[in-house]
Amino acid sequence: MANMQVDERLQHIAFIMDGNGRWAKKRGMPREYGHSVGSKTFERVVRYCGDIGIRTVTVYAFSTENWKRPEKEVQAIMGIFREYLATALKKAEDYCIHLMFLGDRSVFPENVRVLMDRLERETAHHPLTLNIAINYGGRDEIVHAVNTLIAQGKTEITEEDISANLYTAHCPPPDLIVRTGAEQRLSNFLLWQAAYAEFYFCDTLWPDMDEEAVDAAVAAFYERKRRFGGV
Ligand code: IPE
Ligand code: IPE
Ligand code: MG
Repeated sequence: MANMQVDERLQHIAFIMDGNGRWAKKRGMPREYGHSVGSKTFERVVRYCGDIGIRTVTVYAFSTENWKRPEKEVQAIMGIFREYLATALKKAEDYCIHLMFLGDRSVFPENVRVLMDRLERETAHHPLTLNIAINYGGRDEIVHAVNTLIAQGKTEITEEDISANLYTAHCPPPDLIVRTGAEQRLSNFLLWQAAYAEFYFCDTLWPDMDEEAVDAAVAAFYERKRRFGGV
């Protein structure tokens, strides 16, 4: 049960869900096991964010660079993703989630793309937006936005044009970006949208992320003084 509620200052939390592989290795298990446990953690964290009043949650599930990993690991992650998609409608109904996917989906098979589109449409009436970034890269996203604008015949573009053509056009930029797994970098996540985000890095490996750890990140956010360039 949520022991805190956020206010309008914290509308959007984004998570870089890092540390699954190390979590598994520490237990003498294959990295794939870490991803499987990490996917359960993801559902728990999203639910809790909804409970405390967050309106938009974004999770970084698979980057455009993660294809470099061994085939076995990539296939395991894609398998977990497909399993999630198969049950996602029911879960979205149960937890009032509007599912959205961020990233280049052209790499996915037709049936997966159709399902992704359908889930986005059929859950659109729910108040908690959950963005799943899959085959997502911040640079790829900006290039994609610019190419869309070029295709429309634009010869000069504004910041608003770019924002409106990113995969995140439907939601506000993240107020808080949380990265688990002890690394302190963005790894190509939300490059454009992170311009004024607050950052929170923790050593917790993603499968160990829990309600208390989310509370700690939220508490840290409320200690920050956001100025957006003002005084
Ligand atoms: C994050 O965990 C999940 C994905 C990138 C898919 P990692 O798999 O990167 O775990 P570590 O960082 O190797 O421990
Ligand atoms: C970032 O984690 C991508 C996701 C969490 C999906 P990585 O583990 O791929 O990042 P690097 O390679 O350590 O920068
Ligand atoms: Mg990692």
